[in-house]
Order: sequence, then structure tokens, then C-alpha cells
Amino acid sequence: MYRIIEREELAPGIHLFKVETPQVARKAQAGQFVILRVDERGERIPLTIADWDREGGSITIVFMEAGKTTIKLATLRAGDSIANFVGPLGNPSEIEKFGTVLLIAGGFAIATIVPIARAMKEEGNRVISIIGFRTRELVFWEERLGPFSDELIVTTDDGSYGRKGMVTEPLVGLLEGGGIDRVVAIGPTVMMRACSQTTQRYSVKTIVSLNPIMVDGTGMCGCCRVSVGGETHFACIDGPEFDAHLVDWDLLMARQRIYLDEERVSLELWERQGDKGHAKA
Ligand SMILES: Cc1cc2nc3c(=O)[nH]c(=O)nc-3n(C[C@H](O)[C@H](O)[C@H](O)COP(=O)(O)OP(=O)(O)OC[C@H]3O[C@@H](n4cnc5c(N)ncnc54)[C@H](O)[C@@H]3O)c2cc1C
Ligand code: FES
Repeated sequence: MYRIIEREELAPGIHLFKVETPQVARKAQAGQFVILRVDERGERIPLTIADWDREGGSITIVFMEAGKTTIKLATLRAGDSIANFVGPLGNPSEIEKFGTVLLIAGGFAIATIVPIARAMKEEGNRVISIIGFRTRELVFWEERLGPFSDELIVTTDDGSYGRKGMVTEPLVGLLEGGGIDRVVAIGPTVMMRACSQTTQRYSVKTIVSLNPIMVDGTGMCGCCRVSVGGETHFACIDGPEFDAHLVDWDLLMARQRIYLDEERVSLELWERQGDKGHAKA
């Protein structure tokens, strides 16, 4: 069992857990993830490692309530335990001295971008960050990203904080100015695809972290199959980061929608019957 030693609600429906797991903390690197099960009967879900404390033996995860498992996870409190916790999984982010690196995060993915920004800065890059949220009350960790960013731009869809509009608007401005050596964009699939289409016009290499459905996270089940550059890859062992300009976005989006009906039924059953509904879900 893996004990939650700290818990915080960062924004409505977005939670931070610090979890005691010395083995994962010892090896965690930017860009990697864990797969957890809330309890013995739960499904396995992947969550990115947002931070780690090697001496204290803990890692931090930040998650958004999306469906049954994440809503159930959010009911746990500090002192409670998570049944299974496997990691670190996936390849670490490619960190090198590229020059000027532009990091883009959509919504809760700011938690994924912060360790990448820190590592890119430590490597001597100039780091520009763009973070986009739907509205002001969902903004978090601006103060965590700030120290690793030479320039930090915040956007909100409704203009309630920072610049009004999508992350692609400041992205175009920066690409027009030139001098961007690499872009890393992480967030909802539609956002990553829009960033990829934008940077492709300027021929700037762009990395995205793909989020297909995953089960085992070790390359055995094939569930996380994605097509990149016309080749089949398993995001859990070959990724999760890939060259954005080579990703088959239509296939990724179609595969993400495969279980929408089952996910809805599973949540409805759990809300009506609690864990008694599990067997049928
Ligand atoms: C490598 C990776 C890292 C991720 N990191 C984070 C993170 O740091 N924070 C965060 O909030 N979310 C993250 N996600 C997404 C997270 O795994 C899903 O939101 C979660 O699995 C949803 O489960 P659910 O039962 O709550 O919702 P469901 O109702 O089951 O699904 C809601 C949505 O999540 C997707 N999803 C469902 N099951 C999985 C699964 N096993 N694997 C991947 N996607 C799934 C579905 O396509 C659906 O659109 C990550 C996904 C991947 C692949
Ligand atoms: S999650 Fe099973 S192969 Fe990647």
C-alpha cells in the first residue's frame, strides 16, 4: 500500500497528492509516469510524475477528475493509501542544450511541464513558457513555473486572467519572431494537435506527450498503440513523448473515444451503487 502523505486541491476538480513511494522517487525523471490502482478491484490509470523528493521518498501526482477512477481517487485523504503504484514508466523527456525552448501546457498539464522546465533550465536553455486554462479559477502553479521560465505567458479562453484566447495565439507571435529551437507541447489532444499544426508551418521541431488509453504500461497489452511516422509504437514504452509532426492525430483521437460508453456507464453505476456496481462496470 502506498500512503498519501499530503493532499491539496489546486483548483476545482484538480488535486495534488504526495505519495510515499521511495523506489519510484529514487529513479523518477521529467516526462515519466506511474500507473496506479485506487484499490484491489480498481482499473489501472496512468498519471505523470509532477515532482519527486528523493530523500523524503515521495512523489507528487496532479490529476483532474475525468471519470470514475479519478473521481474515486479524489475522495482519498492524507493518511489513506493507494493499493498499487508502479513506476517510473516511460522514457524521460529528451533534455539537452537546444538554445531557446518553448514549453506549452494546457490545463493540468502544467504539472507535467514544470519538471521539464526545471531540467531544460538546468541544462542551460532559455525557457519560454505558455500556459493556457479555460478560466482564472483553474490557474495553478504559475509561481512554480515562473523561476524556471525566462518568459511566462498565461492565457485563458475567457480572458479572465492573462491574455484572452488559446495558447496558439502567443505561439504564432513567438514563431514569427524567430529564434525558437524546440517546442514541447503537453495537454489535451486537440491542443497538442493545434500546436503541432502551427509549428509545422515554421518547421520548428515539436515534441508532444501522447495520452492514449493505457492498461499495463509495459508494452504487453497493445492498448496504447499509436501511429508515428507511419510506424506503430506503444506510447508506454516507446513514448510517451513523440515528434508531433509525425503523429497520426486522427487515429489517436478515434482510439481515445473507443470506450466512451463503457466509461459513462461505469461512472453512473459507481455513483448509484458505490463499489457494489463495480462487477457490472
Ligand atoms: C502517460 C499518461 C500520463 C497522464 N498523466 C495525467 C496526469 O498527470 N494527470 C491527469 O489528470 N491525467 C493524466 N492522464 C490521463 C488519465 O490517465 C485519465 O484521465 C484517466 O485514466 C481517466 O480515468 P477515469 O476512470 O477517471 O475516467 P474515464 O471515464 O475512464 O475516462 C475519461 C477520459 O480519460 C481517458 N482514459 C480513460 N482510461 C484511461 C487510461 N487507462 N489511460 C489513459 N487514458 C485513459 C479516456 O480516453 C477518456 O477520455 C495521463 C494519461 C497518460 C496516457
Ligand atoms: S499500455 Fe499496454 S502496451 Fe502500452
